[in-house]
Amino acid sequence: MPDGINVDYDGLIPNNVGLNEDLRVRKALETWHPGYIDWWHDMGPEGFQEALVYLRTAISVDPKGWAKFDYVKMPEYKWGILLAPAVEGRTIPFGKHKGEPAWQEVPGEYRAMMRRLLVIQGDTEPASVEQQRHLGATAPSLYDLRNLFQVNVEEGRHLWAMVYLLQKYFGTQGREEAEELLRRRSGHADTPRMLGAFNEATPDWLSFFMFTYFTDRDGKMQLEALAQSGFDPLSRTCRFMLTEEAHHMFVGETGVSRVVERTCEAMRAAGITDAGDIAAVRALGVIDLPTIQKKVNLHFSLTLDLFGNEISTNAANAFNAGIKGRYREDKLADDHALLDATYPVLRCVGGAIVEEQVPALSALNMRLRDDFVADAAGGVGRWNKVIEKAGIGFALALPHVAFNRAIGEFAAIKADPAGRILDAAEWAAGRAAFLPTVEDNLYITSLMKPVQASGEYAGWIAPPKAGIDNKPGNFEYVKIHE
Ligand SMILES: [Fe+2]
Ligand SMILES: [Fe+2]
Repeated sequence: MPDGINVDYDGLIPNNVGLNEDLRVRKALETWHPGYIDWWHDMGPEGFQEALVYLRTAISVDPKGWAKFDYVKMPEYKWGILLAPAVEGRTIPFGKHKGEPAWQEVPGEYRAMMRRLLVIQGDTEPASVEQQRHLGATAPSLYDLRNLFQVNVEEGRHLWAMVYLLQKYFGTQGREEAEELLRRRSGHADTPRMLGAFNEATPDWLSFFMFTYFTDRDGKMQLEALAQSGFDPLSRTCRFMLTEEAHHMFVGETGVSRVVERTCEAMRAAGITDAGDIAAVRALGVIDLPTIQKKVNLHFSLTLDLFGNEISTNAANAFNAGIKGRYREDKLADDHALLDATYPVLRCVGGAIVEEQVPALSALNMRLRDDFVADAAGGVGRWNKVIEKAGIGFALALPHVAFNRAIGEFAAIKADPAGRILDAAEWAAGRAAFLPTVEDNLYITSLMKPVQASGEYAGWIAPPKAGIDNKPGNFEYVKIHE
């Protein structure tokens, strides 16, 4: 019998949800499984399906020791259904049902809203695998290659997590949505993924690190908000996903940090102190700091769009219903109903950026976005420490939230990274200084040569401080040719 902690590995689908006793859902998932494997072969990491990758697999949802490391071929990875342990006596933490017992089934009136949220979250998971599928060919080391694949298989598992909820709780409609999740394709003209940032290309490794730093962090914020849900199976699902998500953000933060470190090191060795001397820095074969800043500007602004409109009745409805909470709802000290509360929101009024107090319920997207910005600022501070330590006078910064937006209040205006509103001519003149240009991207691409010898690293990125699973520096994280 599953005990809710240890994972049953006997069947086709590892799980701690008692799938053996739930024949209907087991059959639905087993029917879905071949399509998933086909999708993984077609759209998963290109060129490495036969490689042995040193991956962690969850064997328990106990916070201590849930990960087991071993060599696996990715198509044989044990994708499973893993929920964090139930919290006894859990009640709905917010909204108009606050204090009622958490739901084990979806209330009829909320089915449509809940299904929509699961599908949107589910769609991002395979999308990022598709976006990253060509990166293996240019990995700067076996260590990085392994980290890419770890992120990829876990995003695959996150798709399983959402598909389980759809199939268990949403009947025929859930099964249809599960099929659709395998049918859409990132960047496809006719059947794209649902959200903008998940249809962008991830053409190089700096983009990958920025994506995992910023865009996976949007995923973290959404999962945190859904982990508060009154629908207990969703809460438990998201709580376990968050343990995996932490590694994705680690890959992003340390990835960018190692690029910054290598650039600073090369500048110092060459006696270059002016970070703005781009030609001199590029002559060293490293990525200049102003270009890294432009990549920050791009990925941060694309990710902000994922939070949706600042003022949103959908967000208010989901909160009121007890379906999607706030970041760390359980740690917040207010009435958790927000009926009379207000929240400050930056708005675009008459061509100017002004702060307005709006009803807190309608500003929940904004609030989650503010929490994201604060969370994202942490890593930028740590990157700047690396630059400072090297004695180089340059600091990376998050751009203003009005910069380069396609959704929400600021979609109608142009602003520079400092938040100064620009007219069309000023934007056109400044664009090349704000966002990566074709030349910048070509330069980055020119550095993307694979390094596949154990313990060696491409010249544009520093080695990591420590190995995965405490492995030594020359560990063969991926056995490419078996
Ligand atoms: Fe994910
Ligand atoms: Fe992720």
